[in-house]
Amino acid sequence: MMENTAIQLSDVTVRFRIPHEKIPTLQEYAIRWLKRRSVSFTDFNALNNVSFSIRQGETVGIIGANGAGKSTLLKVISRVIRPTHGRVFLRGRIAPLLELGAGFDYEMTGRENIFLNGAVLGFSRKDIASRLDRIVEFSGIDDFIDAPIRTYSSGMVARLGFAIATDIQPDILIVDEILAVGDADFQKKSAARILRYHDSGSTVLLVSHNLDSIKNLCDRVIWLEHGAIKMVGWVDDIVKQYSL
Ligand SMILES: Nc1ncnc2c1ncn2[C@@H]1O[C@H](COP(=O)(O)OP(=O)(O)O)[C@@H](O)[C@H]1O
Ligand SMILES: [Mg+2]
Repeated sequence: MMENTAIQLSDVTVRFRIPHEKIPTLQEYAIRWLKRRSVSFTDFNALNNVSFSIRQGETVGIIGANGAGKSTLLKVISRVIRPTHGRVFLRGRIAPLLELGAGFDYEMTGRENIFLNGAVLGFSRKDIASRLDRIVEFSGIDDFIDAPIRTYSSGMVARLGFAIATDIQPDILIVDEILAVGDADFQKKSAARILRYHDSGSTVLLVSHNLDSIKNLCDRVIWLEHGAIKMVGWVDDIVKQYSL
């Protein structure tokens, strides 16, 4: 791996097993298993031999249709799932902001979730306590901070997640489609924060369906199709091809 590489994937394949017949409940599944009645599966590759490398300080967008494998790619980079084949190399502290609500406990309050998430990111209670006011302020959650997260709108959950993951300056920030659910004001604030990371040398990986955000924020783009790289290159070139 080159010295200035932040993320490198070599031949990464992620395979899921999908049950062939529709099995309505977990109980039914267990009964079949106990009776040793066979359950047949099909293997499905959500990612297929994906290789690329990203330099420190780049902001890279990931685009592609629904089901193309974008979230799977971010999860395998964040080490939430393991590749079936291939390897993922990372250099630096990573702050993953995966699909909406990943890493949150919906019965706990916003405040409790800040501590929970901070702990996952490797911070001490004291450290998080010192950041708490700033995180709450950036999230704009106000009085709801002491209400359980299940009472939040999806935009509020996204704002809180973004506020936590970006209060520290991670070496690598991973953002999955979260900007789209916030209101216009929050989108502006979070875009500004991503640009600031970029200016100070963090590496950012961003999944978005909003091609304007991709154009404003990213240097390069990876276009995924059916779990494979269709194209990778400078943002203007790829967005132009993608929009055809
Ligand atoms: N845990 C899973 N088990 C089975 N299939 C999955 C799982 N996670 C994702 N998939 C499938 O993998 C494909 C890629 O999913 P995903 O990475 O979420 O796509 P995207 O984020 O680009 O919309 C989809 O067809 C999806 O149904
Ligand atoms: Mg997705």
